[in-house]
Amino acid sequence: MKLVMLGAPGAGKGTQAKMIADTYGIPHISTGDIFRANIKEGTELGTKVKTYMDQGLLVPDELVVDLVVDRVQKDDCKNGYVLDGFPRTIPQAESLDAALAKAGDKIDFAINVDVPDENIVERMSGRRACVSCGATYHIVSIPPKQEGICDRCGAKLILRDDDKPETVKKRLDVYHAQTQPLIDYYEKCGALKNVDGTVDMMQVFAQIQDILK
Ligand code: AP5
Ligand code: MG
Repeated sequence: MKLVMLGAPGAGKGTQAKMIADTYGIPHISTGDIFRANIKEGTELGTKVKTYMDQGLLVPDELVVDLVVDRVQKDDCKNGYVLDGFPRTIPQAESLDAALAKAGDKIDFAINVDVPDENIVERMSGRRACVSCGATYHIVSIPPKQEGICDRCGAKLILRDDDKPETVKKRLDVYHAQTQPLIDYYEKCGALKNVDGTVDMMQVFAQIQDILK
């Protein structure tokens, strides 16, 4: 089962991708999480991507594509994976498809988590992310048991640098210009599935399970 999560920033791609990964026992591959881990560790890649991320801009395709193409060829991806935050441009999708086609493979479903822009800024300003394991919460809709502390691993929860309202607006603009065209791309190849992302996260997950069964 090879899946791609589509959707605006804050639509709930990460939240759903984690539930899919846990339920179906496949790896959750988030390019945003990979970049944030590199920034935290101070790697060369982290230094390169930080300036783009802090401005709400996409990281150049050449810094992303090889990383993901290598990752999906690892042993733990044999039974599938869920890609979250990749592809984000048409060239990224084409590179992924070309790499998969070499092995006679393809993406099974591109799940588009649909949430209108009006809901996004509120969601992002309430999001808290774990500095250690990447789990995400929302101070109103999905609060941690203890304020500021991750339920899963006990580490600190923070507001992401790019979740400030000005940066969120920029990310939405970038999404509409560069990533939304992927909805048509996956529709044309017959992999697109839309889910309503405005409902409670368990109800969103139920729609996804209907698609995957
Ligand atoms: P990335 O980390 O992928 O950010 P994003 O796409 O902007 O998406 P988010 O992680 O912000 O949102 P999400 O959809 O995962 O929502 P979540 O589940 O957390 O990328 C960050 C940056 O990295 C990019 O801007 C770019 O610079 C760079 N980058 C990454 N990949 C790249 C690529 N391929 N190419 C180029 N650049 C790349 O949910 C949001 C909040 O809502 C949470 O608080 C959550 O608890 C809450 N929530 C979730 N579901 C619900 C629900 N149903 N109801 C109520 N609240 C909910
Ligand atoms: Mg995410």
